Amino acid sequence: MDALNRRDYRIAASILSADFARLGDEVQHVLAAGADFIHFDVMDNHYVPNLTIGPMVCKALRPHAKRPDGTPATIDVHLMVKPVDRIVPDFAAAGADIISFHPEASDHVDRTLGLIREHGCKAGLVFNPATPLSYLDYVMDRIDLILVMSVNPGFGGQSFIDEALVKLNDARARIDAYAARTGRTILLEVDGGVKVDNIARIAAAGACTFVAGSAVFGSPDADGGYRDVVNKMRDALATA
Ligand code: DX5
Ligand code: ZN
Repeated sequence: MDALNRRDYRIAASILSADFARLGDEVQHVLAAGADFIHFDVMDNHYVPNLTIGPMVCKALRPHAKRPDGTPATIDVHLMVKPVDRIVPDFAAAGADIISFHPEASDHVDRTLGLIREHGCKAGLVFNPATPLSYLDYVMDRIDLILVMSVNPGFGGQSFIDEALVKLNDARARIDAYAARTGRTILLEVDGGVKVDNIARIAAAGACTFVAGSAVFGSPDADGGYRDVVNKMRDALATA
């Protein structure tokens, strides 16, 4: 993954809202429909009140995660688990490209960020609606992605929390200041409640990578629904 600037918008399809009985097909279809990343939500019924999928499913999906041209698509793993470190090597071995975690779930945030990179993955830090960005203060050099939650983590299909726009603005300012100083770009991703009708103002607040679960998978694929939603999101982004 090359360094991206804010004009390089990416749609990360969250398979949390996909048909779990047909997950390989769903991954193929959503990438064929134009999604850029596969967003892989890992929940442990401990850090968040839901239970989803782990490294074995990531490994099983890895061969299905291909772009239309046959090259590997980015698997963007969002860990909502506590503790974090034990599971990081397993996801790296399972083919994850990006691994993000919540700072409250790690006793040693700096160590966990280093561990993710040591295993060859990009490292991301995730901010719940009430979590301050101050966790970034001394670790920008160790971060490849900042993920701003625009819902409380645990479930798909929730409504976008507008206050996330303020946090995105603040995160964008930090990323731009850091890029000006170092030349290195950090991705700014947003997760929760992203729809065709709000994606432009979310982009205007500074996000470049947009997780979309129910918006994409909620439409029937049979009649080109996934492609339709992805295209509409890109059209909206072109106006941002
Ligand atoms: C929520 C997950 C999200 C979720 C988003 O905890 O992190 O990735 O799938 O779903 P939507 O797009 O439906 O809000
Ligand atoms: Zn997520």
